[in-house]
Amino acid sequence: MGEGDRKVLCSCYGEDYFKMKNLVSIFAGHDANISFWNAKTDKYYTIEIERLVKKRYFRLHEDNNHLAQRTILEECRDIAVREWGIENDYEAVLISSDGYIQTEPTAIFNTKSVKTVASHHQTHAASALYLSPFERALIVSYDGGGDDGHFNVYFGHEDGIKHLENIPSDFGGGYLLCGSLIREVAEQSRHQLALSGKLMGLCGYGEVIPDFVPFFKDFFFDRDYKKLAKETGLPLKNLDNPWDNPMDNWVFEGQEGYDIAATAQAGFEHAFFSVLDTYDADMPLIMTGGCSLNVLVNEKVKCLYNRPLYVPPQPHDGSLSLGHLFLYKRPTRQVDITYAGLPLLDRNKLQDYIDEYSAC
Ligand SMILES: [Fe+2]
Repeated sequence: MGEGDRKVLCSCYGEDYFKMKNLVSIFAGHDANISFWNAKTDKYYTIEIERLVKKRYFRLHEDNNHLAQRTILEECRDIAVREWGIENDYEAVLISSDGYIQTEPTAIFNTKSVKTVASHHQTHAASALYLSPFERALIVSYDGGGDDGHFNVYFGHEDGIKHLENIPSDFGGGYLLCGSLIREVAEQSRHQLALSGKLMGLCGYGEVIPDFVPFFKDFFFDRDYKKLAKETGLPLKNLDNPWDNPMDNWVFEGQEGYDIAATAQAGFEHAFFSVLDTYDADMPLIMTGGCSLNVLVNEKVKCLYNRPLYVPPQPHDGSLSLGHLFLYKRPTRQVDITYAGLPLLDRNKLQDYIDEYSAC
């Protein structure tokens, strides 16, 4: 950071900006992640813990006892020291509002302060806004749910993020459940969170069944599985408990299943646009939350609306610790997290690998 940068930051944020110590932020739910802010360099780093422990969708708070949690957090802390020069001297540990941990983080991060300053979708919104090129934007955050609902709309501006609306719905859970109806999707998914991506991929092989689209559209708002079965006449099973074991819900396969996939996607798109179309279409748009991994919707927004659009590289819960950091200490500039993830931890073994595989 140059002296010119320092003067600009002082004029905006005051000298206290430079007295702040390092920050660390933890999201412990599925796709658990931890982010760091280096106070000396004003740089951000983030670790998706599944890459460290090699378990997809890893949950820090439920897949471990408190000793294992501690070991993982200590490893992340040590990576921050070793790889990014972030001393173990933290102003605060931020813990996401719906991703508690059982272990005590203060000793690990050498601080007395543990704070939670925002809710689930607020952190989604912040993470996306400060990575985006926009100073002002409409922000849509939708997913399978957090402690502040499933679908929230915000106005992001120079001084912060204003909440506009909470829309009762469950686009994320509803779409996942649609995936569970199809044999090829259910049998090829090793985790229920993998159902949605596979459903989206299968859409291209199917034909939309127009008569069913309005019923699937409603399903993403009410998630009433029994009502969907009754209105469509489809032979859905596990009507009373579809969430007990989603992998056991499948009733369609082959072309019939592909058509259900395409129809569910069409219903999803109709539902999403019924919300988006109630807002000013001229303002730049940011889409985030796990449902913003639905690139088919994103592409339609891009093609149908003549407006600037930004979707962050990690709109799912892997971005929540970073968003929490941004809400605790608002960034002074557009943040770039390209290559801000886990370094190659086994790079010192490169020669061993070359020798083992005779790769030279
Ligand atoms: Fe989320």
